Amino acid sequence: MKADPNATAPKADPEIRVRRQFEVLYGKAPTLHSIAPGRVNVIGEHVDYNGGWVLPAALNRCLVMAVSPRDDDRVRLATADFDGVLEFDSRDLAPGRTKDWSRYVRGVMAGLARAGHTVPGFDACVASTIPVGGGLSSSAALEAATGLAGLALVGAEMDRFALAKLCQTAEHDYAGVPCGIMDQAAVLCCEAGHLLLLDCASETFVQTPLPSEEWGLLIINSGVSHELASGEYAQRRAACEQAARRLRVPSLRHVTIDELPAALELAGLTEEMRRCVRHVVTENNRTQRCVAALKAGDFLAAGQLLNASHASLRDDYQVSCEELDVIAEAAQAESAVAGCRMTGGGFGGSCVALVRQGQAEAVADSVGAKFFARYGRIPAAFVTPAAAGARLQRL
Ligand code: GLA
Repeated sequence: MKADPNATAPKADPEIRVRRQFEVLYGKAPTLHSIAPGRVNVIGEHVDYNGGWVLPAALNRCLVMAVSPRDDDRVRLATADFDGVLEFDSRDLAPGRTKDWSRYVRGVMAGLARAGHTVPGFDACVASTIPVGGGLSSSAALEAATGLAGLALVGAEMDRFALAKLCQTAEHDYAGVPCGIMDQAAVLCCEAGHLLLLDCASETFVQTPLPSEEWGLLIINSGVSHELASGEYAQRRAACEQAARRLRVPSLRHVTIDELPAALELAGLTEEMRRCVRHVVTENNRTQRCVAALKAGDFLAAGQLLNASHASLRDDYQVSCEELDVIAEAAQAESAVAGCRMTGGGFGGSCVALVRQGQAEAVADSVGAKFFARYGRIPAAFVTPAAAGARLQRL
């Protein structure tokens, strides 16, 4: 059984596709490309909104936004993948105007305007190799690309983390997803060859090398489209915040692994809250231990922590789904895999596996065969290095 070749080989270079489409649609060449990758979180899941520690990497899959300024206030948006041009007035940025993807662009433009950078009209076209609905932050990539392009159009600069927070606010207010800061920070702040160890309480980060000679990251997409706005995500977040209030801590980050047994005994926590607390506290502990294991070059130990993270997300936090469990279990059984877990918000999306270099294709084939036997389709899979964060290219 061979993995789907289209799944492992990205589509034609998005920079070429987007430029071609831009010229066809607008009859001129773009003046800049704003390029933003997707992200994969290695460990530290559903802890960012609890002030915890996350460890994402930027993907080698990205969104490219080709842009050129206009002399008026019109904004025109198109994609190289679908027909149609979305249009709006650059001064009309109130939330709730639309449910199409221009809301992410409007949200970021509104944030830039609040920061004193009012972006006038422009033409834009995007192309992406980040699977939409794959739990790999395609929307954060669109927000980040818009942010960098908007700043370039007005000749301004902004600290990367500040821009990530602005993008997060756009996601809250314009897409209705009460997400944490991980995705936008990863997309904007990651450096090539490094995982981003982000402390979501102090909002500080350390670039942590991912030595790639021996081990790599394999992404396997369940093909089940996750929908964070469906309410489950907000429900978990609310349960955590309520539990923190009952435990009298500012956030669950402040409960240590040693304090966990006593915290779980506290009367007044519902069963749901107890499961959430156990996941968050143990996940924060696993992330710290995973960073230490990676630093020591002990990938097998790091992998065990990924496996434990998956079990906690499945059993305690209850954000996995059957397809993700099938992938994780199949990958964990492979000798070339140190560990595998669901990544991102869950309820679908992708798994990430720590795989021996050179073995990823064989692992993808074997996991794909087990998945096929159950669901009659092969999950898309690709290998990624820890890639660079978003960047601007003036043409
Ligand atoms: C989504 C959110 C992030 C984070 C993850 C779970 O990707 O956007 O902020 O909460 O889920 O770790």
